[in-house]
Amino acid sequence: MELEGRTIIVTGAAGGIGSAIATACARQGGTVIAVDRVEMPPDPSLPAEVGARLSSYPADISTAAGCADLLTSVLARFGVVDGLVNCAGVMRRGSLLDIDEDDWAATFAVNVDAVMHLSRGILPSLIGAGTGSIVNIASQWGLHPAGGHIAYNTSKAAVVSFSQSLARDYGGQGVRVNAVCPGEILTPMLKQKLETSNIAEAVLAESIPLGRLGRPDEVAELTTFLLSDRASFISGAAIEITGAQQVG
Ligand SMILES: NC(=O)c1ccc[n+]([C@@H]2O[C@H](COP(=O)([O-])OP(=O)(O)OC[C@H]3O[C@@H](n4cnc5c(N)ncnc54)[C@H](O)[C@@H]3O)[C@@H](O)[C@H]2O)c1
Repeated sequence: MELEGRTIIVTGAAGGIGSAIATACARQGGTVIAVDRVEMPPDPSLPAEVGARLSSYPADISTAAGCADLLTSVLARFGVVDGLVNCAGVMRRGSLLDIDEDDWAATFAVNVDAVMHLSRGILPSLIGAGTGSIVNIASQWGLHPAGGHIAYNTSKAAVVSFSQSLARDYGGQGVRVNAVCPGEILTPMLKQKLETSNIAEAVLAESIPLGRLGRPDEVAELTTFLLSDRASFISGAAIEITGAQQVG
C-alpha cells in the first residue's frame, strides 16, 4: 500500500496502459482520478475497496480549456493532488509528406500540450503536497525514432525533454518528474497499428530479445514505483521498458 493517502490523476485511464496504471495505483492504496474521453470501464474482478478508490472523470484534454475545467473540478472535490500520470496519447502514422497539419496538431494537442497544461495547472498542488511526482508516458520512439511516424516520434521526444526540464526546475521544491519510455506493449493502440500495417504479433515479438510483447501491467509496475517514495531519488530520468528491443 505504498500510495496510501495519495491522490493521483491518471489520464488515458480507459486505454490499455492507462487502465492498468489507474488500477495499480488504486491497489496500492491511492485515490485515483481516472481521466479519459470515455468512462473507464468498471472491472468486476477488482475487490470492492479497490474499485471504490477509482473515480472516472470523462474529459477531453486536447484543449487548454478542457484541461482547465478538469483541474478545477478535481481540485474542488479532492483538494490536494500528489501525483499526475500523463498517459493519454494518440498516434497518427506517416512520414512528413504523408501527414497533414491536422495530423501534426492533433498529435501535439494530446501528446504534448495536454501534458504541459495539466502539469502547469497541478504543480502548485504537487509542491504543496511535499510528495509530488509526475510520470509522463513517452515512448522508446521519443529516444530512438522509428521510420514512418514523424509526428508521434517528435511529440514523444518533446515529452522526454519536457519531463527532464520540469525535473530540473522544480526538484528544489520537492517535485520529482520522470518519463517512462515503453516499447511494444500489447494494447488497443498497438493492435490497431499491427492491423493497419499487416504485421503479425509473433513477427513483432521476434524483434524483441525477451521474445514477447510487453504487458500494460509491467508499465504500471514501473509507474507506481516512480510515484512512490521507493523512487525518492529518481527524477529527470527517461526509463526504457522495451524487453531490450533495439529500434532502427
Ligand atoms: N502500446 C504501446 O506499445 C506504446 C508504446 C509506447 C508508448 N505508448 C504510450 O502509452 C500511452 C498509452 O497508450 P496505449 O497503448 O494504452 O493506447 P490506448 O489507445 O489503449 O490508450 C490511449 C487512451 O488515451 C485516451 N485519449 C486520447 N485522446 C484523449 C483526449 N483528447 N482526452 C482524453 N483522453 C484521450 C484514449 O481515449 C485512450 O483510452 C500513450 O501515450 C502511448 O503513446 C504506448
